[in-house]
Amino acid sequence: MSIHPSGVLYGVSLGPGDPGLITRHAWALLQRNDTVWTYPVRSKKSDSYALDIVLRADLSLPAASQALVFPMTHDKAKLAKYWRQAAETIVDYLHTGKDVLFLVEGDASTYSTFGHLARTVLSLDESIQVETVAGVCSFNAAAARLQTSLADTDDTIAIIPASYGVTVIDELLRQFDTLVLLKVKPLMDDVIDLLSQRNLIEHSQFIEKAGTPDEHIVRDIASLKGTPVNYLSLLLVKNPHRQRGEMIRGCRKKPEMKKTGVSA
Ligand SMILES: C[S@@+](CC[C@H](N)C(=O)[O-])C[C@H]1O[C@@H](n2cnc3c(N)ncnc32)[C@H](O)[C@@H]1O
Repeated sequence: MSIHPSGVLYGVSLGPGDPGLITRHAWALLQRNDTVWTYPVRSKKSDSYALDIVLRADLSLPAASQALVFPMTHDKAKLAKYWRQAAETIVDYLHTGKDVLFLVEGDASTYSTFGHLARTVLSLDESIQVETVAGVCSFNAAAARLQTSLADTDDTIAIIPASYGVTVIDELLRQFDTLVLLKVKPLMDDVIDLLSQRNLIEHSQFIEKAGTPDEHIVRDIASLKGTPVNYLSLLLVKNPHRQRGEMIRGCRKKPEMKKTGVSA
């Protein structure tokens, strides 16, 4: 039983790589000298991308800091074990009365480890207070770096992990003006083939490690065929061929959908 009131767990969004995109709220928390920093790593030996963003902002790692291991695996039992270990470490710190910052790449509410972690922490101690600091998502920063808009006027936009596969991506291309494909690495070649078939290569752009010194932008995405890309990369696809319904009293009437392929 703890004699202190528990500290607060903060999910501190840091934006996708450029320290200039750290919000003032996150910055204020990072300036405090009475907190514990925790940050995700894939293995004990690997670097933390989230921590690197903070270090490039010229902040130093405080004495009270700890890497938490979250392996890249789809094995649910293995993942649950690591989430629990990480949550137990955090709860131990919180029970000393210290606030804990969990450093998050991008935004903590968007495809982030923080959601699972916070739920596991609460399953260990439901009285813990959790706060999420909103941040800039990878795709917002990517659109800015690629100098394109994500959506104009009444455009539709979908953001999905590419792992749903090309059949789903093909279907979504019929319904959305903009498609953001996250976690595209394993499917890159298949997606390039699909976009080529749908005459969308010239409307697609690729960005890797947006906002970092290693940022890599590719506008001719066909040139990436057969080239390994980094996990921290995404494709932004615009579909100018999408059929829109007629505008009636400010609302779009649903268009007649063709059964197969993207309407060209
Ligand atoms: C687990 S999700 C994390 C998303 C993140 N929380 C966000 O708010 O954007 C990881 C995927 O986000 C995308 N991503 C994250 N950071 C990126 C960056 N700096 N540049 C390009 N893509 C990035 C990649 O598609 C990557 O596979």
